Amino acid sequence: MTTLAILTAAGSGTRLGRDLPKALVDLAGFPLVVHAARRLAASGVVDSVVVTCPPGLDSAVRDVVAQDPHVDVPVRVVEGGGTRQASVAAGLALAGPDDDVVLVHDAARPLAPPRLVRRVVDAVRAGHGAVVPGLPVTDTVKRVGPASSGSGPDVERVVETPDRAVLRAVQTPQGFDRALLERAHAQGAARATAEGSAATDDAGLVEALGEPAYVVTGEEAAMKITTERDLQVAALLLEEES
Ligand code: CTP
Ligand code: MG
Repeated sequence: MTTLAILTAAGSGTRLGRDLPKALVDLAGFPLVVHAARRLAASGVVDSVVVTCPPGLDSAVRDVVAQDPHVDVPVRVVEGGGTRQASVAAGLALAGPDDDVVLVHDAARPLAPPRLVRRVVDAVRAGHGAVVPGLPVTDTVKRVGPASSGSGPDVERVVETPDRAVLRAVQTPQGFDRALLERAHAQGAARATAEGSAATDDAGLVEALGEPAYVVTGEEAAMKITTERDLQVAALLLEEES
């Protein structure tokens, strides 16, 4: 049986604010999506990759990813949807009959190391149907709601302070039993049409089924690139890596 990785790269990168999609932005000479695909391939546990791309950019994405000498697994490219959830669903539709484990990974986390990919796949193959990498939260996190009338528009009321010790900031790659992920996407399909309702991660869709999801230890290098400052941090991490 085989492991398919869906590499999401169809976002526009609005918060980064460049004139090209975030997955194609350069980090030390290579697009983010290439860094991510290289590390998936280097894990040794990924048999093929499906990359979701922005509309009209299939050949551009195929050229940079499939022709990279370090990406030595088969690569297919599919146009993504209007939300991350819709993009993952488009990738999942290309799973082959032998793909019994599916990873979902964001090109926005280009430096997620091969050992993290292996850790996630190992946990799925050990019988955990949904596995996400997570790190302890260092900030105190508060749940908020609207403030009473009379407060300014930038004031919110604290509803709750969850115990930080039981919180995890989760990353990708997330790994799944293929049938469970398909069931989760099928049941949650109606949410995929709008950014406000779409799931921000795939484990959330599994949780919505009432099925358990599990956390394994994440990696600092699996940080997400959202802003220019994140790109600078990633460049520093890459220097440390070499
Ligand atoms: N993604 C996707 N399809 C979408 C939206 C997002 O495949 N319709 C992917 C992105 O390419 C990224 C990952 O999902 O790898 C996480 O999304 P995010 O960090 O929000 O990236 P963008 O949506 O590109 O950025 P922004 O929200 O700033 O526009
Ligand atoms: Mg986004």
